[in-house]
Amino acid sequence: MKNFISFKDVKNYTELLNTALEIKANPFGQQEVGKNKTIGLLFFNPSLRTRLSSVKATYNLGANCWVLNAGADSWTLEMADGTVMNGDTQEHIKEAIGVMSAYCDILGVRTFPKLEDRDEDYNEVMFNKVKELSSVPVVSLESATLHPLQSFADLITVAEYSGYKPNQTFDKKVKVVMTWAPHPRRLPQAVPNSFAQWFSKIDWVDFTVVQPKGYELNSAFTEGAKIAYDQEEAFKDADFIYAKNWSSFEDYGQIIPQEKDWQVTMDKMKLTNNGKFMHCLPVRRNVVVSDEVLDSEHSIVIPEATNRIYSAQTVFHEILKNL
Ligand code: CP
Repeated sequence: MKNFISFKDVKNYTELLNTALEIKANPFGQQEVGKNKTIGLLFFNPSLRTRLSSVKATYNLGANCWVLNAGADSWTLEMADGTVMNGDTQEHIKEAIGVMSAYCDILGVRTFPKLEDRDEDYNEVMFNKVKELSSVPVVSLESATLHPLQSFADLITVAEYSGYKPNQTFDKKVKVVMTWAPHPRRLPQAVPNSFAQWFSKIDWVDFTVVQPKGYELNSAFTEGAKIAYDQEEAFKDADFIYAKNWSSFEDYGQIIPQEKDWQVTMDKMKLTNNGKFMHCLPVRRNVVVSDEVLDSEHSIVIPEATNRIYSAQTVFHEILKNL
C-alpha cells in the first residue's frame, strides 16, 4: 500500500481485515516497523476520534507523531497558485506541505468539503493538492468525499459482531442497512459514500442504503448496493443499522425537508434481527437516534470508535513496512 485514500487503495480487503484482527489481538507486536518513524497528522477541520485514534495507533506501533491544526496552530495558508501574497495569508501550501512532509514518513490529512461547488469537492481539489505536494505517502483522515479509516473500522466492527473468522464462510449473508437520519446542519457525504464504497464490495454482506427521495448518493459509490426509500421495510431482519446524515448530492449540499421522521428509534430497531446500532460519531442524540437506542444493548458505537485505533494502526503498518 502506497497511499490510503479510498477503498481502491486496498488490494485485498480480506487480507487487510485479517491483518487488523491480528494487530488488535497483539497491538504492541509490530514496534520494529514503527521504530524511528514519524507520522504527521494535519487537520484543516475539527476531530476527536480520528486525531486521538491515529495518535494512539502511532504509539502502539512504537512510532513518533506530530499533530498540526492548520490555520489555528500555524500560519494562515495560501492555497491558490500565482497569488500576490500581500493580504492575510502568510505561507503558501507549497512550502507548508514540502516542509511538513520532510518532517514525517506518512502524512495524514483531513480536508472537509465546502459544499458549495460539487465539482471542486468531488474532484478532491484540496486533498489532491496536498497529495501532489507531499514527498511521503498520504493517508486520508477524511477528505471531501471519503472517510476510509472510518469505513475500515466499521468493517472490523461488523466482522467482529458477526462472528467473522478468517477462512470461514457465512451460511447466510450479514444484512447491513445504512440509513439516512435527520440533522439540523448541512453535512458532507464523505462517511456514507465511503461506507457504501466498502460495504457494497464485501462478499459476505447484503448491503442496503435507505434514504428519502432526493438524498441518493453518487452512484459511483453505491454501485452494487440495494437502494431503498422505505426505512421501516429496509430495517426488517437487519443485523446492523448504520445511521448517518448527509446533505443532498443532487441538490448539492442542501437539506430537503421531510414529512416523515427518519430518527432511529427503539420501535424501528425492534423490526431488526436484534440488530446492532452503529454511527461514526459525533452523533446528535434524539435527532439522529433516540437516547433509548444509544443507551441500549443495540448500540456498539463505542467498540466501533475503539476500532478506529486498529484501522489506523493497520494502515500505518502496511505503509511503513514497505518504506
Ligand atoms: N468519526 C470521526 O471521524 O470522528 P471525528 O470527526 O471526531 O474524528
